[in-house]
Amino acid sequence: MGKYQGVIFDLDGVICFTDKYHYQAWKQVADDIGVYFDEQINNRLRGVSRMESLDIILEKSSRAYTAEEKEELARRKNDLYRSLLSNMSPADLTQEVRQTLEALRAAGLALAIGSSSKNTRYILERLGLKDFFDAVSDGTNIQRSKPDPQVFTMAAEFLGLPASQCLVVEDAEAGIRAASAGGFDSAGLGEASAFALTTYPMKRFGDLQAICL
Ligand code: BG6
Ligand code: MG
Repeated sequence: MGKYQGVIFDLDGVICFTDKYHYQAWKQVADDIGVYFDEQINNRLRGVSRMESLDIILEKSSRAYTAEEKEELARRKNDLYRSLLSNMSPADLTQEVRQTLEALRAAGLALAIGSSSKNTRYILERLGLKDFFDAVSDGTNIQRSKPDPQVFTMAAEFLGLPASQCLVVEDAEAGIRAASAGGFDSAGLGEASAFALTTYPMKRFGDLQAICL
């Protein structure tokens, strides 16, 4: 085995491509209330909790929203998002992700999820990964979302491993910052491959085999 005994995966944008559904659902809500929203603003929502995402979207609003109104907008977004998720199936897990996860597992690495999403368990179920991971740390067990390291620190705790023995896999700046703040090395996909704080820039998910094995 290499340097790491555990790997902690972000979910949205790493294991699966739910980002487009987050975008569609928020876009619908923003359009309904007449607030400008585009893909660039959407990029700032990666890794950030639902309510913090809404606050970022409402920066473009001409009026303030009460806490109750915000709850209602977040609920509306989540309902739209869940109905999009309901179309997902194990076919939405790419061969590359599936084979890489299996290779890491076969090599004896402990595997966990570290996601800000409160829909994590539902998504894992849709993908046929309900019982695959050794631990799941998500939006339901944290008080502070990325870039705070809490979600990863708790994932490592659930695995019974110190941060120094776990690698975090991320696609978002907030996630790479969270990993670094928690003392974790990180592997970055997409945009996250270009950040100075990323330990291992990756071109594709399968690169994890060369990093970990
Ligand atoms: C993260 C996404 O995984 O989960 C964010 O990158 C999202 O964009 C966050 O806001 C919270 O998701 P949920 O499913 O709890 O609304
Ligand atoms: Mg992500």
